[in-house]
Amino acid sequence: SKNVRITPHPSFDVLAATTAARLITRLLDVQSERGEATVVLTGGSVGIATLREIAQSPAHLAVDWSKVNFWFGDDRFVAADSADRNYGQAAEALLNHIPVDPARVHIMAASDEVADLDEAVARYAAELADAARQEWENDDASPAEAPVVPRFDVLLLGLGPDAHIASLFPEMAGIRTKGCSVVGVHNSPKPPPTRVSLTLETINSAQEIWIVAAGADKAAAVGLGLAGANAFQVPASGARGVNKTMWLIDEAAAAKVPSAL
Ligand code: 6PG
Repeated sequence: SKNVRITPHPSFDVLAATTAARLITRLLDVQSERGEATVVLTGGSVGIATLREIAQSPAHLAVDWSKVNFWFGDDRFVAADSADRNYGQAAEALLNHIPVDPARVHIMAASDEVADLDEAVARYAAELADAARQEWENDDASPAEAPVVPRFDVLLLGLGPDAHIASLFPEMAGIRTKGCSVVGVHNSPKPPPTRVSLTLETINSAQEIWIVAAGADKAAAVGLGLAGANAFQVPASGARGVNKTMWLIDEAAAAKVPSAL
C-alpha cells in the first residue's frame, strides 16, 4: 500500500551494508536541507551490524556527525556496563568511533543510574519533550503547541520473530499505551525482562520508519506485519512512518511476503 516499500536483499551482510549506505546518504541529504539530522537507533542483530558497517564505510566521513541527534527506540533496563545494553552495543559499533556531540546522544537511563524503571521512563520522556520544545521555539512555521517529541528523520526498528518492534511485544500493555511518549516494560518475553521503549504513537511520528530484519525465523513476522494484522497481536503491522515505511529485509525473511503486495 501507500508509501510502504519492501526491499529484499541477498544476505544479512548485504542488508547491513546497504542499510548503512542508505542511512549515511539520508542523513547527509537531511543535513544539507536542514543543517542537522535526527536518527532513532535500534538494538538487535541487523541494527547493530548496520552501525558497524557505517563506521567501516569511507562514505561516513561525508556526514557531520556533530550535528546528528541520536535517540533510542528502546533499551534494556540493565546496569550501565552490561553487554546487553543497546546503547553500549551502539557505542561500541559506531558512536565511539565518530565525532558525535555528546549533548545530542540521548540515552535511556541504566538501572544503576535511576531509582527505578518509572524514573528512567520519566527522564526519557522529559528529554524528548525538551528537545521538541527547543525545536518548536526555533521554528517559525511550527504549530500552536509544542509537540512532545522532536522530529525524527529516520527511525530504525528491529523485528522479533513474534513481530515485536522496539520493546513493544504482542498482547502486552506497552503496545496499547497511548497519551505518553515512553513506556516501561516488565516481563518482556525476550530477555532481559525489563525495558524502556518508545510508544507506538512516538514511533509513528517519525518521517521514515525503516524496519530491518534478517533470517528465516523472521519470515512469519514480516508476512503478518505486511498483511495488515491487528497491531495488538502483531506490533510491527502498526508501524507507519509519516512519509515512508520501508521493510529492509533479507531473502529468508521475505519468504512469506503476501503475494498481493
Ligand atoms: C532489543 C531490540 C528489539 C530487536 C529485535 C530484533 O532491544 O532487543 O531493540 O526490538 O530489535 O528483537 O533483534 P534481533 O535482530 O537480534 O533478533
